[in-house]
Amino acid sequence: MCGIVAATAQRDVAPLLIAGLKALEYRGYDSSGVAVLGQGEIRRVRAKGKVREMEALYHADPIPGGTGIAHTRWATHGVPSEANAHPHVAGRVALVHNGIIENYVSLRAELRAGGHVFTSETDTEVMAALIDRRIGQGMKLREAVLTTVRELEGAYAIAVVSRDEPGRVVGARRGAPLLVGVGIGENFLGSDAQALIQVTNKMVYLDEDDVVEITRDSVQVYALDGQPVERAVHESELSSDAVERGEYRHYMQKEIFEQPRAVADTLEARIGAHGVLPNIFGIDSDALLQRTRGLHIIACGTSYHAGMVAKYWIEEYARLPVSVEVASEYRYREAVVPADTLFVAISQSGETADTLAALRESRRRGYLGTLVICNVPESSLVREADLKLMTRAGPEIGVASTKAFTTQLAGLALLALDLARRNGLDPQRYEALCAELQHLPRAIEDALKLEPAIVELSAEFIHHQHALFLGRGAQYPVALEGSLKLKEISYIHAEAYPAGELKHGPLALVDEDMPVVAVAPNGPLLDKLKSNLQEVRARGGRLIVFADGSAGMDDMARHGAMLRVESGGSFIAPAVFTVPLQLLAYHVAVLRGTDVDQPRNLAKSVTVE
Ligand code: M6R
Repeated sequence: MCGIVAATAQRDVAPLLIAGLKALEYRGYDSSGVAVLGQGEIRRVRAKGKVREMEALYHADPIPGGTGIAHTRWATHGVPSEANAHPHVAGRVALVHNGIIENYVSLRAELRAGGHVFTSETDTEVMAALIDRRIGQGMKLREAVLTTVRELEGAYAIAVVSRDEPGRVVGARRGAPLLVGVGIGENFLGSDAQALIQVTNKMVYLDEDDVVEITRDSVQVYALDGQPVERAVHESELSSDAVERGEYRHYMQKEIFEQPRAVADTLEARIGAHGVLPNIFGIDSDALLQRTRGLHIIACGTSYHAGMVAKYWIEEYARLPVSVEVASEYRYREAVVPADTLFVAISQSGETADTLAALRESRRRGYLGTLVICNVPESSLVREADLKLMTRAGPEIGVASTKAFTTQLAGLALLALDLARRNGLDPQRYEALCAELQHLPRAIEDALKLEPAIVELSAEFIHHQHALFLGRGAQYPVALEGSLKLKEISYIHAEAYPAGELKHGPLALVDEDMPVVAVAPNGPLLDKLKSNLQEVRARGGRLIVFADGSAGMDDMARHGAMLRVESGGSFIAPAVFTVPLQLLAYHVAVLRGTDVDQPRNLAKSVTVE
């Protein structure tokens, strides 16, 4: 998704801005640009494609200057092209924007009637034109920005410079993140701390509707009514090392292999010899969880699949009703909220627009409280929820979520166990489940040893255009996650079904050209799954079975492949069995030669609706 970096300094800022954009590349984008204010003029360089393509143009004709703005664009309005790439310039103003302006059609018509000539198809250009018009009427940049954003509908994070006010950048945010990086004799704006960590670790996280003005020596935040407001400076714990790829070929591979540590970190100091520790979801969270009589879990993509696994766990062990829904549907539906229901949002980034909107919508719907399970401490979701549990996965750069998912499962397992204990789960069973969860990092480590076997398996996969994934019970969301991974990075069309549904339609697709991946750890539904797999075999389907050595499974894969995964117990099996599916998707994508870390059309953090 789009990324913003802006800077004002004594040195030339273009190299800093380009370095910041590179740190944001993981978010997914299709064009980029930089504009620099120097010697009374704005000069910019923009290009379709990767940042390095724009950087080459910059090196061919450098643009010196101490104040500038930069952007990576993920197309929403208008195709990826140089003309639609940001920064957009109108008169004396240059502007970059993340988000979507919903009333841009009427604003554009009004500006056009006033004689403005647009040079792009974007919604963004109207903002630059409006701000420039106001400066022309005598306003200073800050006032022009404040007046303009009051007119906007939709979501935005912007950074703006004006030729008339060198050394100054004005930013504003609503519904999309923006933060200030506080340096020594230089200051910065960014849409993500990752963009700024190379220059400073002191960050000011802006609130909704904040407008900020930075110069080399000052940072001042204003509310929408123009009154100055105070915002605290935080020391970010991010490190630029955390985003190094090291010995790995792709970030995704590195992140898959980081899972034992990431899960161990997520469990650390949260579960002990006697079970889940008190108040791990925040001060006084125990009182709220004690009252909880049901849960609504809301998320998108991979995080939604984690929520689906949690439903199986919480209903089985805590006997509380759970509904799980994708945020983009939930936010526009009149959900019925029974008394004492807890709203739970799950998100890696904490900035997913649909999930954030759902959290805000939940405030109106009378929940007992809100809990967020998230990987980014300073994110909007974390700041707005009542209770929170941080997954400690560290920065996830690959667009395809891997360690975020297994750490979310670790967090949700803690929640399930905590609720189970409060709601009368047999103490011996509770202790056994806690021990299983503590074993999870080791079990994932063992699963990673399957990589060489999976590399072999991947070679036969790459010629297929379609694949089916099957699971039952809590393995059904794992099958969904496996198929999502495969489709996003290898571009093979993959679908997942609860195996019992096969005969109700998808079986029609099965023939010798259809690989069918089955997630088959031992458990009460394994015999049922075996029958479903027989249905596949009878139609000549090629089975790829991930199983834990239970009786009869070897034979099952006689016309395919069987990989043995040590599950470590049926409670943690969903997290463990996810790992080989991640590796399968990864190696198939590598062999197909796709852009694994930045797959086409996708963005890491989806901050638009
Ligand atoms: O940051 P979030 O967890 O809220 O993101 C939700 C989805 O956009 C994300 O999981 C997406 O589906 C990933 N690309 C999956 O690999």
